[in-house]
Amino acid sequence: MGRLLIVISLVFSAAGLNAADIAAGAAGYALCASCHGAAGEGISAMNAPKLAGQSEWYLKSQLLGFKAGHRGATAEDGPGVQMRGMAGTLVDDAAVENVSAFIATFPPVESPVTIQGDAAQGKGLYALCASCHGLNGEGNAAMNGPRLAGQNDWYLRAQLSNFRKGLRGTAPGDVLGIQMRGMAITLVDDQAVLDVVSYINTLR
Ligand code: HEC
Ligand code: HEC
Repeated sequence: MGRLLIVISLVFSAAGLNAADIAAGAAGYALCASCHGAAGEGISAMNAPKLAGQSEWYLKSQLLGFKAGHRGATAEDGPGVQMRGMAGTLVDDAAVENVSAFIATFPPVESPVTIQGDAAQGKGLYALCASCHGLNGEGNAAMNGPRLAGQNDWYLRAQLSNFRKGLRGTAPGDVLGIQMRGMAITLVDDQAVLDVVSYINTLR
């Protein structure tokens, strides 16, 4: 009986450690707000994307990816290097969990359309993307594909360009980034990137 109680209390304390602390996450977000905005709306002048509306699992995976050097490991990737430094201020997995849980409470915000491409052309290109990112760009957790609909179009363009240039999705161990890089390469030129992002702009 005594042993059973110890097992039960261990299980409960482990569960307690894993539960995200949203209040702690809110305090941790103060730094993030300077680049991503108080509402997580994204600030293009800082190259910092919208976080509001993104899935909690994806926020966590990217913060861990920055910390592991899967993103922001190449000197030419200025914005990625900058964000990698910020992710480094999240001292442990609990800090990552907490800030992600806080961001997940943000209501969705509109993002302005800033790029022009041929959305009809982009629709054809998006057929491939839909298998992992959803027909409406809503994301597909089972495929690890993040939400794209509603993201800042300049950021989608920058990331597709980073994947194509090998600034993202080339670090050893970055299995999902490497997979996505293979997909980005199917976009043969900048025009194709503009077209597919213009189509994603219609999925709001
Ligand atoms: C100095 C500005 C700055 C600060 C402060 C900052 N970020 Fe960022 N963040 C960026 C930039 C720039 C990017 C885009 C990096 C890239 O282009 O690859 C980014 C990207 C991200 C991403 C990836 C989003 C996606 O969809 O790929 C997440 C998640 C993120 N930041 C969370 C945070 C959190 C949480 C904090 C606070 C602990 C924070 N950021 C603080 C500048 C900043
Ligand atoms: C086989 C599945 C798969 C397909 C198909 C796919 N993606 Fe992805 N995509 C992913 C995964 C997984 C990630 C997250 C990579 C990571 O964790 O860094 C991703 C990430 C992205 C990102 C970065 C988003 C962010 O906020 O950081 C963009 C943009 C993107 N994909 C666009 C596309 C487009 C456009 C297409 C079609 C040309 C496409 N993807 C096809 C799996 C896929």
